[in-house]
Amino acid sequence: MSTTYGTFPGSRPRRLRTTPAMRRMVAETRLQPADLILPAFVREGISTPVPISAMPGVVQHTRDTLRKAAVEALEAGVSGIMLFGVPEEAKKDAAGTAGTDPDGILQVAIRDVKAEVGDELVIMSDLCLDEFTDHGHCGVLDASGRVDNDATLERYAEMAQVQADAGVHVVGPSGMMDGQVGVIRDALDQTGHEDVSILAYTAKYASAFYGPFREAVGSSLQGDRKTYQQDAANARESLRELALDLAEGADMVMVKPALPYLDILAKVAEAVDVPVAAYQISGEYAMVEAAAANGWIDRDRAIMETLTGIKRAGAQMILTYWATEVARRL
Ligand code: PBG
Repeated sequence: MSTTYGTFPGSRPRRLRTTPAMRRMVAETRLQPADLILPAFVREGISTPVPISAMPGVVQHTRDTLRKAAVEALEAGVSGIMLFGVPEEAKKDAAGTAGTDPDGILQVAIRDVKAEVGDELVIMSDLCLDEFTDHGHCGVLDASGRVDNDATLERYAEMAQVQADAGVHVVGPSGMMDGQVGVIRDALDQTGHEDVSILAYTAKYASAFYGPFREAVGSSLQGDRKTYQQDAANARESLRELALDLAEGADMVMVKPALPYLDILAKVAEAVDVPVAAYQISGEYAMVEAAAANGWIDRDRAIMETLTGIKRAGAQMILTYWATEVARRL
């Protein structure tokens, strides 16, 4: 009797892949509803939800349908909701003042969701000016048209306060300005919001995959964000951003986009002891939906595979537009 396979009898990993029950038992990564956070858009002045054509299945919510979406997410076991406000076009201006208006759409939405689900769901808000500026940049511009870092920080401090006043649990600064986490922490602490936490968009890359999001928020942006968001070529730079965010008081850190940056996610997860999130962004969603609509991939399997890969790489929390659907399936 001779063995024709490897040197050791144990060198047959396929034994552990023989049945679904066996594969389930030895799975190293298990997705759970509580891993998931639902990003949601709410648009001012509409009476029925507006579909986002580049994100089939995702809508700009009315105030009313947003409340329903929050309840559905909660019932499915999703742990949080990340809110994005889309103001009326006429309310956009160079400073993005609708973003700091206590009655601006994002603040109204935070209060609505809070009234609906209270503390049962973690309510998060995008803390950035791009949805509110007429030029579409994440900050205010200087005389030469460049995004002015420190003038923008002042606006972010105000945004943090109004969002916290509205009852948000977590703010998510996504503008990639230097010093944003520290300024926001100070603003929150000085206004009695010591318990509001900061989910820092620590490693945020200037990505083509944000494309569908521009439609989702009716962005006015011409050009790109390459002077503030990171260059896809860089990995060590993310560790520098990470060190700064932690020193400035970030409670949780995030990598974004997810799939093209799993190496960054793994490095960040290895380096920290705070919770790590990843954002599976609009273009990642659109790619899967478009390929599936063409019959080119198995939609449900592809969705689960992307989310499992993101968790395996080190994300404890995943922002995904599929959050409610997937949580129901788990
Ligand atoms: C900025 C912001 C963006 C996204 C989340 N916050 C857009 C950008 O940086 O250009 C993108 C999310 C997505 O694409 O799903 N407010």
